[in-house]
Amino acid sequence: MISRLIKATAFAAGLITATLSSANAADVLSGATTEALILPCAGCHGNDGVSKGPAIPTISGFKKKYFIKTMAKFKDAERNSTIMSRIAKGYSDEEIEQMAKYYEKKPFVKADQKFDAALAEKGAKLHEEFCESCHKKQGQKPKKKGILAGQWSPYIRQELHNFFSEKRDMSRLMGKRLKKVGKENIEALVNFYASVK
Ligand code: HEC
Ligand code: HEC
Repeated sequence: MISRLIKATAFAAGLITATLSSANAADVLSGATTEALILPCAGCHGNDGVSKGPAIPTISGFKKKYFIKTMAKFKDAERNSTIMSRIAKGYSDEEIEQMAKYYEKKPFVKADQKFDAALAEKGAKLHEEFCESCHKKQGQKPKKKGILAGQWSPYIRQELHNFFSEKRDMSRLMGKRLKKVGKENIEALVNFYASVK
């Protein structure tokens, strides 16, 4: 039993090392290796930035520019957060840029989660009318923002309510749209983004 446990642990540790050592040494900007920088992130955001969810977002595949801007906003507490403000303060601008490069190269993996088909259908129409102009390809294109399609629903729900209640910055942009959509229709959008395959 114990030897099996040790074997399993060694195997898991090997996997982590194998994933982490694939970080490109040439990307080191800050003196610290990328694997050392991202080790604390992996505990919450998963290996390679793919979160096991449900309240913690996947961050792989994000554009470097958005990643850097977002971490800077957490650092200055310009964007509200439960935990990220404290975490972001521990990293220099160079270290953040180094992590941004790493996560940009890792593929975004859509969360495997349930959704309500009728609500998703309603959400698809709302998305097309109010959101697609910026969140292109049904929210799959990251560009200067996060990825909506396939992101964990509890996270998307939380952020939509944060914009709606003007708790998160950028509410002038997002909150205004959401008010047109109506608070009662936020669930339709949440289910739509979970449904995009
Ligand atoms: C204790 C868990 C935890 C750890 C550790 C953690 N995060 Fe987060 N992260 C979160 C949560 C929760 C959120 C949602 C915002 C909030 O409430 O703080 C988030 C949000 C983010 C976002 C914004 C995602 C988006 O869609 O806009 C980025 C980028 C991010 N984290 C990067 C990192 C990086 C880089 C590290 C390591 C240096 C890290 N996180 C470590 C929990 C964590
Ligand atoms: C005019 C352009 C624009 C429109 C229209 C728009 N958004 Fe956004 N959205 C943005 C930008 C820019 C961000 C990034 C905000 C930031 O930097 O913190 C964003 C961020 C978000 C986020 C947070 C993602 C994350 O990873 O944390 C969600 C969720 C979201 N939008 C949903 C929507 C929905 C739903 C609609 C339609 C009702 C919509 N947006 C319409 C520009 C737009």
